[in-house]
Amino acid sequence: MKKILVTRPMPAPVIAALSGHKVAVRDDTRPMSRDEMVAALIRFDAILPTIGDVFSADVFAAAADIRAGLLANFGVGYNHIDVAAARAHGVAVTNTPGVLTDTTADLALTLILATARRAGEGERLLRAGGWDGWHPTQLLGTEVTGKRVGIVGMGRIGQAIAQRCHYGFAMEVAYFNRSAKTLNFPAKRMSTLEELAAAVDFLVVAVPGGAETHHLIGTPVFDAMQPSGVFINIARGDIVDEAALIAALQSGEIAAAGLDVYEFEPAVPKALCEMENVTLLPHLGSATLETRTAMGRLAADNILAFLTGDPLPTPV
Ligand code: DGY
Repeated sequence: MKKILVTRPMPAPVIAALSGHKVAVRDDTRPMSRDEMVAALIRFDAILPTIGDVFSADVFAAAADIRAGLLANFGVGYNHIDVAAARAHGVAVTNTPGVLTDTTADLALTLILATARRAGEGERLLRAGGWDGWHPTQLLGTEVTGKRVGIVGMGRIGQAIAQRCHYGFAMEVAYFNRSAKTLNFPAKRMSTLEELAAAVDFLVVAVPGGAETHHLIGTPVFDAMQPSGVFINIARGDIVDEAALIAALQSGEIAAAGLDVYEFEPAVPKALCEMENVTLLPHLGSATLETRTAMGRLAADNILAFLTGDPLPTPV
């Protein structure tokens, strides 16, 4: 019987999908240690890891006799796995694209709206017993409807965000992407990030993480943004130079930020936590029961295909 390791507790249907095999579910919500990852590569035929399980080249090198043939990542982003090193050690990698697109786009809109309308600040005020009643100038936010949104990375998730902004909120859409895209809604492609940043009210990051996009957004982009500009990140924390973001917020170079991801996750800088004009969420992008179940099922499908020798549904 084949041995499978699931590295976090999962919705029940995900584990059920793997029945018929010997499945070990790690009963810990925190990332695996290096020693655990090395041992898992040696002991299991397939592993279902996720964000935080850093399968670096050095982890593969340390596992003398690798039994695992597949890392079926739970998540579309796989920048925590050194795919080249995995391949070099005969380990295939899959991810879960498509199934979390809408959910993650919904979360981007949550951040846009919550940040523009000062929802977090209002909730904190109310819960602290500080609300003494409605008045005309209380907690005035900024309008979302009809404003301009800039999407950095017009892939699946970027497009889903742009569609919501265009059709739901009558926003003008502009974007920055390596290649031009054929889109079914109006959107202007900008030739530089700075040009995009300067032209919009809301700048939303939706590019994949990894070496190519590390610190893609830094001081030049924040300098280019309007002082009224709102910055949103639902992608990966290290795409943004977090120190530069904090400096831009502190100096008033930009007005506000809505963040779901952090450069050194799960550490969130105290400076951000102390700012009222920043909405901070704990990486909730795909966090619905339906989507997390669909992600797990897709990861399980990859494992089952691997174990039967069929083509992998979603290789990276
Ligand atoms: C992903 O799939 O990469 C997401 O960040 C998980 O929410």
